[in-house]
Amino acid sequence: MRGGTIWSMENEFAPATENQALKERIIARIRDEGPITFRDFMAMALYEPRLGYYCSGRETMGRDGDYLTSPEVSPIFSAMVGRQLREMWQVMGAPDRWNIAEAGAGNGTLCRDVLRWAHRGALEFFEAIRYLIVEPIPSVEARQRERLQADALESKVCWLNEMPDVVEGCVVSNELLDSMPVRRVRIDDGELREIFVDRDEKQFREEVQESSTPEIGRYFERLGLLPGEGCTSEVNLAAVEWMSRTGAALRSGFVLTFDYGYEAEELYTPWRKDGTLLCFYKHNPSNNPYARIGRQDMTSHVDFTSLRYAGEMAGLKTLGLVTQSEFLTNLGIGEALPGHNDKLSLEERLARRRGVSELVDPAGLGRIKVLVQTKGIDVSHLIGLGLSD
Ligand SMILES: C[S@@+](CC[C@H](N)C(=O)[O-])C[C@H]1O[C@@H](n2cnc3c(N)ncnc32)[C@H](O)[C@@H]1O
Repeated sequence: MRGGTIWSMENEFAPATENQALKERIIARIRDEGPITFRDFMAMALYEPRLGYYCSGRETMGRDGDYLTSPEVSPIFSAMVGRQLREMWQVMGAPDRWNIAEAGAGNGTLCRDVLRWAHRGALEFFEAIRYLIVEPIPSVEARQRERLQADALESKVCWLNEMPDVVEGCVVSNELLDSMPVRRVRIDDGELREIFVDRDEKQFREEVQESSTPEIGRYFERLGLLPGEGCTSEVNLAAVEWMSRTGAALRSGFVLTFDYGYEAEELYTPWRKDGTLLCFYKHNPSNNPYARIGRQDMTSHVDFTSLRYAGEMAGLKTLGLVTQSEFLTNLGIGEALPGHNDKLSLEERLARRRGVSELVDPAGLGRIKVLVQTKGIDVSHLIGLGLSD
């Protein structure tokens, strides 16, 4: 529907599951400024200082949180990533100092488990690693420090608020880009418009208006396509910007990106009427971003075509795009399955089996995509991509 309300839902959940102070701040902003873009609504819901979902100090990921990520499922994931990182370090001549820069490190689990893995079985690599965590949220950084202190690994890690100007090594991220605030757009009568969020006495309402920035039109022009008629879709300009900045910062090395997403043609296919935006609360998905404000996660699939293009514009070469299932299988995740002669308790055996099967599950984490880009090095072989000379 043009210019009108698409839908609004909100009051089906008990207020205890909402962050009331955050909700009032969003309402006050709409009262002062008028309808705000969905992107601004999502940015406040997730990242408003001290109040947003990721900033309030609550546990968000893991079995006790709202959703599971690969490092939280099993340390086998980080061991496989460690293998891949070690090969990248070797490809670069095994220098004495090598950076791993991780953005959106969450609880710090990937960092901790890559370092543990290297310390146990790849000591020379371990000595070379300087692990940079790029973390803008103070309460999240505190949690990461706590986790790494417990392991006495903190001295290997350096915290930064933003990506350094120059990186040599590998920039790694897991489910970072799919948690960035997105624009939501709608195609009516062939016209591209943007979704804004308004508020009446009782509830939030969506409105469709002219786009707030010409960047959205340019984004689809570059792709040479538009979402289908009547479709609502997401445009993640922040992810594209992140890739441009990261590509520019990388002097030589790799960018290793794990995220849910598709190539643009598949993401914006005409049958995908409602886009990919999803919310998670205690492992239950919902498509209502106006419920449980500040208490539920929001995520949307990324457009790998635009990410690759942004990287290439910044001097990155795309080496490959595979599923997590393929990537981990190429790296030998099958070897992590317990064998007959392994001295493991029944519990350990079951945990390993469950870990492996969850990480490669083609209907779950296994369908995450792994994008590998390079700059300034000549590389023809990478185990995870299954490329060989
Ligand atoms: C879905 S969580 C994934 C956490 C972790 N990588 C994992 O796999 O468990 C996404 C994380 O990215 C962080 N994040 C979002 N935008 C960011 C940015 N621009 N720079 C650094 N971190 C960011 C969020 O605060 C959140 O902790």
